[in-house]
Amino acid sequence: MNEFYPINEIETMTIRLEQPEDYREVEDLTRTPFAEKAKLMLRTERLTLRPWFESDADSLFKYASDPDVGPRAGWPPHNSMEESLEIIRTVFHNDSNWAIEFNATGEAIGAIGYGPSCECNLPAREGEPLCGYWVAKPYWNRGICTEALQTMLDYIRKTTDIQSLISGHFVDNPASGRVMEKCGFQPTGETCIDETQYQGKDRPIRVLRLELK
Ligand SMILES: CC(C)(COP(=O)(O)OP(=O)(O)OC[C@H]1O[C@@H](n2cnc3c(N)ncnc32)[C@H](O)[C@@H]1OP(=O)(O)O)[C@@H](O)C(=O)NCCC(=O)NCCS
Repeated sequence: MNEFYPINEIETMTIRLEQPEDYREVEDLTRTPFAEKAKLMLRTERLTLRPWFESDADSLFKYASDPDVGPRAGWPPHNSMEESLEIIRTVFHNDSNWAIEFNATGEAIGAIGYGPSCECNLPAREGEPLCGYWVAKPYWNRGICTEALQTMLDYIRKTTDIQSLISGHFVDNPASGRVMEKCGFQPTGETCIDETQYQGKDRPIRVLRLELK
């Protein structure tokens, strides 16, 4: 059973991360005020999905500069710690993107989130969010991404009225499709090309959808 912790301020979060016993558990998420839902940490035995902190820049650079990670997901490897810091300050700075922290080490080892699909080329329904993720290579094939995705989906089901999510993976990256399928996504039967993705030209994307309601 996953646990959910509301956190209101970034400063408070930093302190509370050092003192996990201070976290307040919410038993019924549907009764949590909206303002509190906005910044939640989602915790499982192995993982904590939490906001990105600027202090994560070194681990983000370490793992996101790996040429085997970003290009599989349609983005270029990070070139410098400054670039990783800028990604934390911009791309990751919202309420629907989480760092995947490995509880045993406290290190951010991946990212997961959802957001508007309008900028990508997937055949999304009107307003249908897109979800995405990556995990650092040393942690692959240990069920970590599946656990993180299941946790985020649990949260979305409990706290939003999102009807469905769309996602896709390059056909040459079947592991990602396997993660989606393990979490209930179904292939729509469509493939598409998205040239806005890094190395997206000539790389078909297999489209999957999860019906939430
Ligand atoms: C895709 C990715 C997120 C998976 O993370 P992970 O933590 O290793 O995922 P899990 O361990 O939960 O599940 C991986 C599944 O893929 C399977 N798999 C691994 N390599 C595979 C391959 N070449 N072909 C088919 N399945 C494969 C694993 O066996 C496992 O399935 P199983 O549990 O049925 O055995 C990770 O490889 C990654 O970050 N890749 C680079 C970025 C990326 O691709 N992001 C997604 C973009 S759409």
